[in-house]
Amino acid sequence: MEQGEFTLSEREFTRIKSRVYSVAGISLSDAKRTLVVSRLSKIVRALGLPSFDAYVDYLERNGSEDDGQEFVNALTTNLTRFYREDHHFEHLRAHVGGLMAERPRGSRLRIWSAGCSTGQEPYTIGLDLLAAFPDLKRWDFKILATDIDTSVIAKAARGVYPENELAGISPERARLFEKAGDGSIRIPAAARDLVSFKPLNLIGAWPMKGPFDAIFCRNVAIYFDKPTQGEMFGRFAKLLAPEAFLYIGHSENLGSGGEGFRLVGKTIYQSREKLNKRAA
Ligand SMILES: C[S@@+](CC[C@H](N)C(=O)[O-])C[C@H]1O[C@@H](n2cnc3c(N)ncnc32)[C@H](O)[C@@H]1O
Repeated sequence: MEQGEFTLSEREFTRIKSRVYSVAGISLSDAKRTLVVSRLSKIVRALGLPSFDAYVDYLERNGSEDDGQEFVNALTTNLTRFYREDHHFEHLRAHVGGLMAERPRGSRLRIWSAGCSTGQEPYTIGLDLLAAFPDLKRWDFKILATDIDTSVIAKAARGVYPENELAGISPERARLFEKAGDGSIRIPAAARDLVSFKPLNLIGAWPMKGPFDAIFCRNVAIYFDKPTQGEMFGRFAKLLAPEAFLYIGHSENLGSGGEGFRLVGKTIYQSREKLNKRAA
């Protein structure tokens, strides 16, 4: 136990697990005990409360919306990086190239990065497509990037990252980023302008109507249980345009939500219903 951390009883852990599951759909395994203690202790101390039990009581009885958000933000895992799972971007490039050839200039093209964390995923999409298709500006092309964690959304919207985030990226790709001069890199305005960041809970209501030409939901479903995953993937299927693609994380599968999809590449799917409608 680190200094200033509280002890977490079985009962307290159960209460915390059940709260984060009902609010965010996140299933915490027993292996996450230490993570819960280290992430929540700071908040409990700052509130001047004596224990995790008192903290959950506080959230239930008189916690504000901000308190509830702080609880969720503390329990999300936001690991991400530029050009993560590169083959998806290669596949997307071919798909978008095809759509641009098919649809007249000015047509709508939409991509959703669901569970975008600090923004590296949607910015990779924007930077990569702009580099491949400088003409993209002439299409009505937008990337929606959402996450339940409001602190990562705020970081993402700034579009500034430490330079060491480019480690392992080819010099050709590294040149797509602007040097901010203080050990930071900045996403160029042309790519930043393509992306709208919004807070959104994937287990709540979705205000968007779609259709999306591609949905990226990578390394998010791993935090959900099977029923929650199945429901979410089913909802994605409804928002995909015919022939659009769903990209998921390399260690994920669609589970029960997979019935509506056809596997077309490594962790790349198309909605069967939409394909059938198009064929009819
Ligand atoms: C590991 S990151 C994945 C980031 C990026 N998609 C990637 O693959 O690099 C998982 C993200 O899912 C978000 N998340 C977890 N539960 C969520 C929910 N119920 N609604 C929306 N986002 C959620 C977390 O806040 C976190 O930023």
